[in-house]
Amino acid sequence: MTYENLNIAFNNGIALVTITREKALNALNTQTMLELQHFFSTDAYNHEGLKGVILTGAGEKAFVAGADISEFTSLKKEGGAALAQRGADLVFNKIENCPKPVVAAVNGFSLGGGCELAMACHFRVASENAKFGQPEVNLGLIPGYGGTQRLTQLIGKGKCMELMMTGDMIGAEEAKALGLVNHVVPVADLMAKTKDILQKIQTKAPLAITHIINLVNQAAKCDPKGFDNEIDAFGDCFDSEDKVEGTAAFLEKRKPVFKGK
Ligand code: CAA
Repeated sequence: MTYENLNIAFNNGIALVTITREKALNALNTQTMLELQHFFSTDAYNHEGLKGVILTGAGEKAFVAGADISEFTSLKKEGGAALAQRGADLVFNKIENCPKPVVAAVNGFSLGGGCELAMACHFRVASENAKFGQPEVNLGLIPGYGGTQRLTQLIGKGKCMELMMTGDMIGAEEAKALGLVNHVVPVADLMAKTKDILQKIQTKAPLAITHIINLVNQAAKCDPKGFDNEIDAFGDCFDSEDKVEGTAAFLEKRKPVFKGK
């Protein structure tokens, strides 16, 4: 696929995926959603040696300012529901369930569908100028790309209710205090910090990382099978070459070299 609204750069095991609709503050229009779907269904899996993904927005003003409001005008009930369903099936759940770590580098406004996109990633690093919010209520709408669920999971019911009902934005430090982002760094350091974390993760056992993603996602959804699934996955790890390598490296006092097998 030729990407019109995404720039993808593969480097050192990491795919840097940048949404490039800077003039529209990287708003998620249909074409951008199709491209994200394509990337997270094919390239993220097929690219040899890919160990992780960073998702960000072009420019210094916005990560993503939401779904593209200009595409909402003709939509009625079925169209709105279909938009949300396609978003969940094709993009947001795909990112959340990606077997490789996906980290949002939030570089400005992260509003509505943009906040939801950041929340679908496995965790978030923000620049000091980042702003988060679910302002759909100002449009007569509610979040439709999983926001009511993921924001509640991340920051709890009371604060989520207030943010969604007021449509207020919060800054990066408040987002960090609430658990919405893991780190806040100066704008100039955002990519370096995000890459540093992913590079550290790259040195760990890939099959274990995939189990962690799946199991933590289950916990966030209060899946009652989470504990049993952890026991199964823990057992599976014992059959992996990486477990043999990891334990041997510890006992031989050297660094492990994992193969994801
Ligand atoms: N959709 C489409 N275009 C958008 C957009 C969006 N979500 N957000 C910004 N833009 C466009 C603006 O229309 C403007 O375009 P023009 O230059 O052609 O007029 C351009 O981006 C720059 O935006 P502003 O001039 O508004 O910039 P600002 O600095 O004055 O304000 C802002 C920045 C506060 C982020 C403001 O743009 C804004 O409030 N944007 C909308 C945020 C929003 O409501 N997001 C939720 C969308 S609905 C949703 O996401 C539903 C869902 O859950 C699935």
